[in-house]
Amino acid sequence: MNKPIRRAAVIGSGIMGSGIAAHLANAGIPCLLLDVVPKQPTEQEAAEGLTPEHPAVRNRLATAAIAKLQTTNPPPLYDPDFAGRITPGNLEDDLPKIADADWVIEAVVENLAVKQELLARIERYLQPGTVVTSNTSGISINAMAAGRGAEFRKHFMGTHFFNPPRYMKLLEIIPGRDTDPALVARMKAFGERVLGKGVVIAKDTPNFVANRIGTYGLLVTLREMVEKGYAVEEVDAVTGPALGRPKSATFRTLDLVGLDTFRHVADNVRENVTDEAEKAAFEPPQVLMEMVARGWLGEKSGQGFYRKLKGADGGSRILSLDLASLEYGPQKKPSAGSLEAAKLAKGAAEKTKALLAGGDRYSELAWNVLKRVLVYSAAKVGEIADSALEIDNAMKWGFGWELGPFETWDAIGLVPSAQRMEREGLAVPAWVKDWIGQGHTSFYRKDNGSRFYVLDGKYAEVEERPEVISLRSLKEKGRTVKANSGASLIDLGDGVACLEFHSPNNAIGADILSMITQSVEEVRRNYEGLVVANQGKNFCVGANLMLLLMEAQDGEWDEVDAIIRRFQHTMYQLKRLDKPVVAAPHRMTLGGGVEACMPADQVIASAETYYGLVEVGVGLIPAGGGCKEFALRASQNARLPEADLQPLLNQTFETIGLAKVSSSGHDAKKLGYLRPTDRVLLNQDHLIFEAKQAVQRMAQAGYEPIPEEKIRVVGAEGKAVMQLGAIAMRESGYISDHDLKIAKKLAHVLAGGDVPAGTLVTEAYLLDLEREAFLSLCGEPKTQQRMQHMLAKGKPLRN
Ligand code: NAI
Repeated sequence: MNKPIRRAAVIGSGIMGSGIAAHLANAGIPCLLLDVVPKQPTEQEAAEGLTPEHPAVRNRLATAAIAKLQTTNPPPLYDPDFAGRITPGNLEDDLPKIADADWVIEAVVENLAVKQELLARIERYLQPGTVVTSNTSGISINAMAAGRGAEFRKHFMGTHFFNPPRYMKLLEIIPGRDTDPALVARMKAFGERVLGKGVVIAKDTPNFVANRIGTYGLLVTLREMVEKGYAVEEVDAVTGPALGRPKSATFRTLDLVGLDTFRHVADNVRENVTDEAEKAAFEPPQVLMEMVARGWLGEKSGQGFYRKLKGADGGSRILSLDLASLEYGPQKKPSAGSLEAAKLAKGAAEKTKALLAGGDRYSELAWNVLKRVLVYSAAKVGEIADSALEIDNAMKWGFGWELGPFETWDAIGLVPSAQRMEREGLAVPAWVKDWIGQGHTSFYRKDNGSRFYVLDGKYAEVEERPEVISLRSLKEKGRTVKANSGASLIDLGDGVACLEFHSPNNAIGADILSMITQSVEEVRRNYEGLVVANQGKNFCVGANLMLLLMEAQDGEWDEVDAIIRRFQHTMYQLKRLDKPVVAAPHRMTLGGGVEACMPADQVIASAETYYGLVEVGVGLIPAGGGCKEFALRASQNARLPEADLQPLLNQTFETIGLAKVSSSGHDAKKLGYLRPTDRVLLNQDHLIFEAKQAVQRMAQAGYEPIPEEKIRVVGAEGKAVMQLGAIAMRESGYISDHDLKIAKKLAHVLAGGDVPAGTLVTEAYLLDLEREAFLSLCGEPKTQQRMQHMLAKGKPLRN
């Protein structure tokens, strides 16, 4: 029976249970959250006269967990209001309610007996076809299912989320011996499409995939450092960005995870594998045991490998632990040729090569850790996951490595490095030697835009799924229609083209504007419609400020005017294209990036989109049509003659005036940046496919270009209302004099200038107002300081 998943129940409201419930709520799935009944009322509950029988007491754990979701940072929910989709309860009174759930997720303490006993209770209330999964980080799925009925076992598997569930891409799915393979495939698709995860199918082995390799790597690193006397900060300098890995590197990661938890995870492998050498590899070093014994568990206990000290001046310093003396001392910034070379190199592959080639003690540390992790990963292919590809994905999605172990091995040269490993006494697994023996020089291969990986001694094609469109591989297949240094137009097939930005930080400069114009022409003649999307780190950080600042500092006002005219005209062309346009932003989408999305007929944003008109932060106002589009929307939303425009504009004024940036795609809707007809998608990898489909649907339905219409404005009176609000903020010290000056100009533009309320104006008129305000602000020294500061520091200056 194939029940769609519409409702869920999560058992255990701790860190993971509440985080998973939040993410289900993010995906629009209502969720019951249950936990144990507290033994007795708290003092405060007793003072309020609550007895142990009161639901507020009995549901306290889940209720408190839900409340905490709304204040945790970074936010587990896309919108704090989504907490309303989670219903608290307790395991004594509410377990029968799981009969309404299509998916029950167990996320209680990591203890086999507790989990087994709970699953037995769960089994009693299940409807046929309900999926039950465990979020265990390492306990055997088959052991958990032992004693349950056939129907239960068929619908039971592991779903291992990583913390925090909203942000970590990896979801390991672990089928048990009797799990229905069709259900596994269905849950994988659900995890990807609905929850936006990258799913790896793991085998039922201790700690599954990412934590098995990750823990091994951390232990190898610890042992190497103790043996060779490296300092904590030296190890972190080598094992972070220098190897294409997160800044938290080795020890900030361990401090965050908690040393006791880490030890527990390592023990789980040691106790459950049979190979003696492997058992030994998972033996925690003495120093770690000592730290756990002293209660130095990392961040949660205030100290671990690092310790933060608050100084008398209110500032803080971070000390590092000397593993020999177990004393904390000031950090010494490691410097060496290899680290410098890695810093300068571009991309994880080049960084790793540069680090290894340095010939110094850091190169040696990197090699001694890497070689063991690579060999271990290779030895585990087939045991923990079916392929090298799955292991690479698990490490990239679960540990934030830019390259998985096999990709790393390719990058440093499979054949020479395998020879060196053997020379140094490591046992390179037989399958790797056979593979090399067959004449292969890498685990992966590319051919005409398709990617192949090693699987059972042969190259297999990395499955290209229709919902995951890769612009890079389309370009490799020769599908570029037009290109310049900042952007390309790519043929997506089926009559749809994609405009891709690829300038540094995807900032909009003359090259991107030119490509937008060319794309509009090309699509008008030869395509059904256009997608505006890219697969860079961020969609677009805004307009390129450098040129603007230089012209402003030189007082070249005609040039500044020309730049803005060009920007406005380009966005206007995009808007008036007589074919459907869908923009698909992701992650940082700021200033001009938002203005490049606003002309689209629809926006399909990634759930992780941080979207905002932030021009005020650099002393300006949006002048690429951003203010005009907002005024137009307000006018359209208050179409009835008696409808009040003012509140809509007040909200816009506040959003732009305070340079608000959304904390998610859903929040962008709440802030009014996205329209109700715009969509938010949890899986960023699916954006271009969905945008293409939307374009096709509009084209098939007989797309009619949006005719230009007059905009009703609030005029002088409405401007005064907005300005009054800004003055009040100045008086209460919330904004600066310069902020107030900018706000007044913003109010002027949004209000449509000094015309009488209700006047109908044209788009061109509002664009002129935008441009005038922008130009005059460019001449302000404080605005120039703000721009300069942003270019130098990457953050806004308050002046
Ligand atoms: P936690 O300690 O934050 O939460 C555990 C929850 O289990 C608590 O709400 C507690 O009230 C409940 N509980 C305790 N005893 C119980 C019992 N006898 N019956 C029913 N419920 C009981 O732990 P956390 O971190 O949320 O872990 C939950 C599960 O998720 C564990 O299996 C853990 O291994 C796994 N996990 C943890 C990750 C992490 O980073 N913390 C990551 C991935 C998986």
